[in-house]
Amino acid sequence: MKEILIKISISYCRQAKLEWAYSVIYKYAKLNLVACVSCASMQREGQSKLRKHKSRRRRLQPSSVGSPLSDTHLINSDVLDYGSNDEYRFIGGRRFHNVETSKYLLPCDDDELDRLHVQHYICRHIWQRNYSAPVKERLGAGGAHVLDVGCGPGTWLIEMANEFPRSHFTGIDISPVFPREAKPDNANFLEANLLDGLPFENDSFDYIHMRFLIAAFSKSEWETAINELVRVTKVGGIIEIVEDEIEPRNDGPISRLLFSAFFSDLKSRQIDVTAYSHMTDLLGATECLTDIKKEEITAQFGKWAGRVGTLLANNTGILFRTFRARFSSILELENDEYDKLVEAWYQELNEYKPYSVGYRFLATKK
Ligand SMILES: C[S@@+](CC[C@H](N)C(=O)[O-])C[C@H]1O[C@@H](n2cnc3c(N)ncnc32)[C@H](O)[C@@H]1O
Repeated sequence: MKEILIKISISYCRQAKLEWAYSVIYKYAKLNLVACVSCASMQREGQSKLRKHKSRRRRLQPSSVGSPLSDTHLINSDVLDYGSNDEYRFIGGRRFHNVETSKYLLPCDDDELDRLHVQHYICRHIWQRNYSAPVKERLGAGGAHVLDVGCGPGTWLIEMANEFPRSHFTGIDISPVFPREAKPDNANFLEANLLDGLPFENDSFDYIHMRFLIAAFSKSEWETAINELVRVTKVGGIIEIVEDEIEPRNDGPISRLLFSAFFSDLKSRQIDVTAYSHMTDLLGATECLTDIKKEEITAQFGKWAGRVGTLLANNTGILFRTFRARFSSILELENDEYDKLVEAWYQELNEYKPYSVGYRFLATKK
């Protein structure tokens, strides 16, 4: 911890922002103790809430489907008919799912859908293709059934449905943020919580894709989730799970500080923040899967690395802004101090030149 504080102070001495940097360091020095206490009490509060409201949906009055982050959106709920507002919760001007039992804490409003949309194109560019499973021939031949779990706005699914017009594509998400009308004929979407069990018969799908659910499940929920994916996969069918490491590697002290708040927040909800590091074991533990493989890819992270690096950093920067209230409280910073820290984080990326690591896990049902 001392090392982090010293590096932050050196970095800011260089930029002649001494006074402010020292105030951050002073506050952070108090943090160790405070963060532990608040995590424990948040955990207790969360657990008792879960017990009280198990599996119950609450309907609250809508305020807006947008968010304070921007006025213009790539994806706009009003235009694309993303369900009615009373299916959601609204906190701090952001829209969230309303499923009491779910740990998933990201919003599902237009700003988040924009972020997911852009993230899809970054991911496709980095991997140079939408999937790693050897399914091209099977989907191209037609009649194959594909499921995308936690499909969000359906960007991946719609692209795939257009690429393979003779196969059938189904997307499910806990929030009905997917398009209901503007979609190819061979694409369908359903509102469903993977952890409640999928509304499909055993052995229904030839190929199942699930991407970026790292912020959704505890360790035992990952087991439940994977067992459910296995149940609805046909024998010989393929499961592909895609995740990125949350924190870029080789990052600097400001980055580590911000991500420490991120991890602290996720862990306070018992979310398994390193599921990717034991995903192959989780898949193997089902004893129903064979040919379990992991592909890995790295991508430079930050403006220093050009357009894609800038987009990747912006994508995480949006998350830091989204969670300003939560993370600034964990770090014991005022909002404007937190904003300055995020601004400084962008600069620090150019100094440390970090990179992100992504994984695609593949397995075939025996
Ligand atoms: C980070 S987004 C990724 C969306 C999409 N897979 C993509 O790659 O763009 C995670 C999605 O998982 C959904 N989700 C979270 N928990 C879920 C659950 N238990 N069952 C179904 N969907 C879930 C969220 O609503 C959100 O749309």
